[in-house]
Amino acid sequence: MKRIALVVGLLWSIGMSMTAALAAEGVSYEKAADMLYQVMSANREVYTRVVVQRLSVDEEILVASEHFEDDAGLPLPSQMFRFVAEAVLDNTENFSYSLLSLHPINKKNGPATDLERQGLEHVADNPGENFYGQEELGGERYFSAVYPDYAVVEACVQCHNNHKDSPRRDLSVGEVMGGVVIRFPMD
Ligand code: HEC
Repeated sequence: MKRIALVVGLLWSIGMSMTAALAAEGVSYEKAADMLYQVMSANREVYTRVVVQRLSVDEEILVASEHFEDDAGLPLPSQMFRFVAEAVLDNTENFSYSLLSLHPINKKNGPATDLERQGLEHVADNPGENFYGQEELGGERYFSAVYPDYAVVEACVQCHNNHKDSPRRDLSVGEVMGGVVIRFPMD
């Protein structure tokens, strides 16, 4: 497979096309983020369907619970997502990602930068659109992408609306609940 060369010979232009920065060789940051997003979102979907739905709903063998250790059950899909993202953070500096929301159950999952907030607002206000931008953090430049996370089934809104730590009680199916943020250092 062709090597992904992200930082070779970057061609910059100003304004809107800033977000479409292309590497002279390899793939753009945007394309690389899109591909990572496909993998993480397919992983979450498969874990939900093949593990959580089958073992907790269909077979009723294990509970899926936020307190899965105490309950000897399965971690929730959003927890699995965060655990893997944290493991990636331990293993590489090439990229990082997270599942965030403007109204998170877990305060750790709120926006931590201006771009994260702007991106989460953009995907919530413009259904179907992703958000791409650049930000400077600690003196380093980053490319960041935000993808909408939808309440695809009733279970999403049921659990979030009734959760004691949820700042929102009025989520409905089909709504954007948050977003996946993927970030690359640009060097
Ligand atoms: C059984 C309860 C439950 C269900 C069902 C559920 N969630 Fe969550 N969700 C949680 C909990 C608890 C967290 C916080 C997890 C953590 O510690 O990171 C969370 C985290 C999130 C976050 C990150 C922001 C936050 O609130 O902390 C998003 C976005 C999210 N869920 C979306 C969804 C979507 C979309 C669905 C349906 C496909 C869904 N959730 C289903 C309980 C649930």
